[in-house]
Amino acid sequence: MAESLSREAARMQNISLVDLFQREQARGARYSGEVGPLFLDYSKQHIDTAVAKALLDFAETRELAPRLQDIAVGRVVNTSEGRAACHNRLRASTDLPAPVRDMRAAMAAMAAAFAGGEWPRTAARVTHIVNIGIGGSDLGPRLLVDALSGIENAAATVEFIANIDPANLQRVLQRCNPASTLFIVSSKSFSTEETRRNADAAWGWLAESIPAEQVPHHFVAVTANPDAARARGYRDEQIITFPEWVGGRFSIWSAIGLPVALAFGMDTFENFLAGGAAIDDHALSVELKSNHVIALGLLDVWNSSFLRRDSLAVLPYDHNLRLLPDYLQQLMMESNGKSVTQSAGAVAMPTSPIVWGNDGTNGQHSFHQLLHQGTQRVSCDFLLPLASTTPHRDQHAALVAHCLSQSLVLMRGQAENDVFRELLEDGMAESTARELARHKSMSGNRPSTTICYPRTSAESIGAVIALYEYRVLVAAILWEINPFDQWGVELGKKVSGTIADAMTSRDMTEFDASTRQLLNRYYSVMDDQS
Ligand code: F6P
Repeated sequence: MAESLSREAARMQNISLVDLFQREQARGARYSGEVGPLFLDYSKQHIDTAVAKALLDFAETRELAPRLQDIAVGRVVNTSEGRAACHNRLRASTDLPAPVRDMRAAMAAMAAAFAGGEWPRTAARVTHIVNIGIGGSDLGPRLLVDALSGIENAAATVEFIANIDPANLQRVLQRCNPASTLFIVSSKSFSTEETRRNADAAWGWLAESIPAEQVPHHFVAVTANPDAARARGYRDEQIITFPEWVGGRFSIWSAIGLPVALAFGMDTFENFLAGGAAIDDHALSVELKSNHVIALGLLDVWNSSFLRRDSLAVLPYDHNLRLLPDYLQQLMMESNGKSVTQSAGAVAMPTSPIVWGNDGTNGQHSFHQLLHQGTQRVSCDFLLPLASTTPHRDQHAALVAHCLSQSLVLMRGQAENDVFRELLEDGMAESTARELARHKSMSGNRPSTTICYPRTSAESIGAVIALYEYRVLVAAILWEINPFDQWGVELGKKVSGTIADAMTSRDMTEFDASTRQLLNRYYSVMDDQS
């Protein structure tokens, strides 16, 4: 099956996107569709009937539909860790498993008591909520809080501390007042070094200013390991537990979303869940050949593995979603940045693209040059709210025009001869015009997908995130990899312990010359400081 896709890829080398549109009048409608609050237009991808058939055949051989159901119903799909990974259940509105029901009830109770000023029992009313967590325990709430802050009023300022760099901690604490600050320590494992150190430092910072017995009232733990939180002094009533089967990078649907529920209310958080659930409905029930969510997952495989587009630019023409590329870097690359199959064989084709991007139109004045004329092979995702959350309609219209023009220009490009003629018409000398035309010509034929929605809301953000989750799952199934583990990040954690020991003992015998010289530089700065 992979062979027929390779053949299709070779055939596509000779067909441009413009050709595809000329050949098929109905192309725009054929390769697009509504899913929940989203409209997905993937007609500017290198797909036609034959490619779609080959992708669907490949999906059949990998048993895509039953494998997606295995995930959704909670079978053990994370085989290297022996766990289910059915985060879709977190956004369901009926038939909730008991732990999810309890978790949601605890969040709702906290959110209501927070709104009413009855909780937490702090000396002053909370003005600052500080989320301490990293990776999946940071990126989701950070994205949502940032996005919603542009749309709704927040009941408190929400800050984030993730990095082990104390500069992050210090900059946030400088903006907070101990008596009116609530810390949410989010960690599935409750053992992540960055989070442990930052939480301990925050605890110490509070203890310097308020009575010791009040400190635990300023801390909430959100975790799948409540015993570890209890052991560190967190109050039972301020620990919210979520199930072990919730993967870190899929956990925004769980109590990891607590900062959102506290700042914007449980209703807003539930709207977010509803947006995700709308994608579940489509992804899990519509047959493969008409399933737009699955189509985007298949196109990711097509782009990465067969057209060798090794990077995906995520371009939100939506300032409220400016943190989406950061969020998707973890979701897509930590999930599918793998080279070993579920059965421990070698993956036969390139897997996850490098995911990057920035807020449109800022990117146009920065890296879009490379998108239009560079040698790298990039596929682009444009995200576009059709109406603004602000009253500035005209300015929003300009944003829409920029977004649509980028995908159009990426596709069409600009022929050297056309540029040459224009320059001559403008009166330029022929030899100069020839040379300049080369610089100004653009190959075009660069693919993109546009994801639009009526306006940015908790619901549309939920739908966008769930859409990308399915893209990750579909691609993982086709690549036969486990998207739910992340063994590649473990060795670095272990070795940082070894380096930390050497920083104290100054024994560098086991290190290479580069590491030794870097450590020596560190020692000499430390010696100067002491
Ligand atoms: O970096 C690895 C990782 O395990 C991520 O997958 C996870 O989101 C992050 O660390 C934080 O983990 P925890 O929520 O357990 O602190």
